[in-house]
Amino acid sequence: MTPSPRHGLRVTLAGFAVVLGGCAWDTPQSSLVARSDVAQAILDIYGLITWVTIGIALVVFSVLAWVLVRYPDRPGAPLPRQTRGHSLLEIGWTIAPGLVLLVIAIPTIQVIFRTQGEAPRGALEVVVRGWQWWWEFRYPSLGLVTANELHLPAGRPVVLRLEGPDVIHSFWVPQLGGKRDVVPGRINHIALTPDAPGEYLGQCAEFCGASHANMRVRVFVDTPPAFERWVAAQKAPPAEPTGAAADGKAVFTRSACVGCHTIRGVSAGTLGPDLTHFGSRQTLGAGLLPATVENITAWLRHPAALKPGVKMPDLGLGEPDARALATYLASLK
Ligand code: CUA
Repeated sequence: MTPSPRHGLRVTLAGFAVVLGGCAWDTPQSSLVARSDVAQAILDIYGLITWVTIGIALVVFSVLAWVLVRYPDRPGAPLPRQTRGHSLLEIGWTIAPGLVLLVIAIPTIQVIFRTQGEAPRGALEVVVRGWQWWWEFRYPSLGLVTANELHLPAGRPVVLRLEGPDVIHSFWVPQLGGKRDVVPGRINHIALTPDAPGEYLGQCAEFCGASHANMRVRVFVDTPPAFERWVAAQKAPPAEPTGAAADGKAVFTRSACVGCHTIRGVSAGTLGPDLTHFGSRQTLGAGLLPATVENITAWLRHPAALKPGVKMPDLGLGEPDARALATYLASLK
């Protein structure tokens, strides 16, 4: 039995419904929502290209419809007049696409140069380093280092200086604009001004190994006073732990942790994220899981079970040691 045309139509419509059901405008990583000057400039170009494309589609499909209606194949009808070579048409369809490309290229090139040009006066510089598989953020003018959760003040120009210590990554936070590669041996910049306080999600956008998909980033755009409070809290030395957290600190200092991680005043490793104020972050493992004691304990016991390929070794910690260490890390607000 061959499927009826009606059946085919139903299947097609159902297919469309399923595909379109995945569409949404205002999702956390939608590039159709702009929350910085750069994202807005990129969105404007996207809008321009969309309208140009719609215009071209209208012209092409109108001509096609006209031809289909005007010149159908009728039995016995003579062949229409055959044309071979038409200078005017040929010049026309050479110049028209050239003009279209020009209309698209000029604003695109302007925005590319603007977003990686000189840092505006008073801009906050943040060094962004992509590691397998986490993000390091350094604020040279503030003397701060943090990881995976970037804080920026709203309304102030920011220059992100992208550096790659290992392989090529790509920093991408859609609503703030960007997606620029982080390349070893080369420095790229993104200059932007976030305009609305909020939490913005992003992720590495260049395949960089086993846990590429687990290399997420969160950007918190704070009001200027909230940003000042965050800076002050990050600059403060970590509080001295008590109780179970103190036991956890002892586990930390006698384990291999100190070789890779910095906790100011405790250790000075540089291969893994700075943990001085780990407890102030919402997630662990570059956005992998909420940073609860439960999750941190599971992570410390078997990191590779949660994050394939992770560079952090399995330290062979027992449940009590892992839990104490997790309590200590969570206490580092
Ligand atoms: Cu880093 Cu993909």
